[in-house]
Amino acid sequence: MRRSPAFEFDNHPPFFYLETQKGACMSTHKKLIISRQAIASRVKELAAQISRDYARKNPLLIGILKGAFIFLADLTRAMDFPVEVDFVRLRSYGAGTTTSGEVHITKDVETVIEGRHVLVVEDIVDVGLTLNFLLEYLNGFRPASLKVCCLIDKKERRRVEVPLDYVGFTVEKGFLVGYGLDCGENCRTLPDIYEMVESGGGD
Ligand code: IMP
Ligand code: MG
Repeated sequence: MRRSPAFEFDNHPPFFYLETQKGACMSTHKKLIISRQAIASRVKELAAQISRDYARKNPLLIGILKGAFIFLADLTRAMDFPVEVDFVRLRSYGAGTTTSGEVHITKDVETVIEGRHVLVVEDIVDVGLTLNFLLEYLNGFRPASLKVCCLIDKKERRRVEVPLDYVGFTVEKGFLVGYGLDCGENCRTLPDIYEMVESGGGD
């Protein structure tokens, strides 16, 4: 099995990934920016903070599919008490790396929101339109409180100010993959987070 020179990683993950996750974005190089160890320790800290803030509040954690599924799974299992989870699926991106500007719900929340302490769990906030749309939508159901926990706050392209109550990591820019984040459905299940950079573009 030969490693494709068009699909390279800095820390040489198993060949499994190289064989199964190449596709639309295979002509790019990936630079490791957040290791699985750094993710695990930050998730633990966030879970501890959220556990303290939400003790005795019976919170409802709503993950935004698909990107947040791994983060939500790790976050909830690191919390001090069992929590109720639900999911919403929103689409704002096509197969590429730029926003379409429009947000659609393709899978709605199934839990009664009214009177609940809701914590939205998102993978990455970029332009802000996705989260802004969801917060307005959820507010319409009159939750007791509505807060946001995002793994990555990507600041450079923000167009709508959205309140981020718990943030895992802050980055300025770049298109990231791994730990739930995809590029055209590729690389979502990589355990670390990489920035996609142009082939031959260096670090
Ligand atoms: P926005 O904040 O409205 O631009 O939308 C954020 C959504 O776009 C996230 O939930 C992701 O699904 C996707 N997204 C934004 N930046 C990235 C990235 O760097 N990698 C993968 N998906 C991204
Ligand atoms: Mg997302």
